[in-house]
Amino acid sequence: MSTLTIRTYPDPVLKEECPPVEAVTQDIRRLLDDMAETMYLNSGIGLAAPQVGKKLRLIVVDVQRGKQGDTLLKLVNPRILNKEGRTKSEEGCLSCPDLLVDVSRFERVTVEALLPDGRETTIEAEGLLAICLQHEIDHLNGVLLVDRLSSLRRSLYRKKRLRENAASTPKDDESQSPPRLL
Ligand code: NI
Repeated sequence: MSTLTIRTYPDPVLKEECPPVEAVTQDIRRLLDDMAETMYLNSGIGLAAPQVGKKLRLIVVDVQRGKQGDTLLKLVNPRILNKEGRTKSEEGCLSCPDLLVDVSRFERVTVEALLPDGRETTIEAEGLLAICLQHEIDHLNGVLLVDRLSSLRRSLYRKKRLRENAASTPKDDESQSPPRLL
C-alpha cells in the first residue's frame, strides 16, 4: 500500500462530477486500500477518490477510525436510496484545510454500493456515519464544503488558500487537526 497526496481547494479536480466505476478490478481494490491508508494517516473519517485526484466513484469511510474493530467501509458507486429526518452539525474536510462549516444533512440514509469483491451491499446509516456518507457522496458530485459558504466567505477563503498554497510552508503542528475531517 502507499499513501496518496490529498488535493485541496481550489484544485479543479474537486469540482468535477465523477463517472461510475464500470468494473471492480484489482487496480480499483488497490486504490481503495491506498485511499484508506491515506485517510488514516491524515486522521480523517472519510475520503473520496477525487480528493486524491482520481475521477472515480469510490469512497472510504471509518467513523471509528479503526478504534473499535474493523469498521472500515470501502464503497464503489455509492448512491443514496432513501433519506429521512434532518440534522445539523459542524463538518471539516481534508480538502478544505482550516475550515469548519455547519451543514444540514439527512439524519438517516440508506446507501447502496458495490463492495471491493463486487458484491452489492445496502447500508442503513444514522448519526455520524450518515453524515459522513453524504459528505463523501457530495465529493463524487463535485460538491465541497466551500459551496455551502456565502459568496463573500468563499471568496475570502479562496484567497487565503491561494496565499497559503503559494507560500507552501509546512504546518507547525500537524497533530492539532480539527475534528471530523471527511
Ligand atoms: Ni471532504
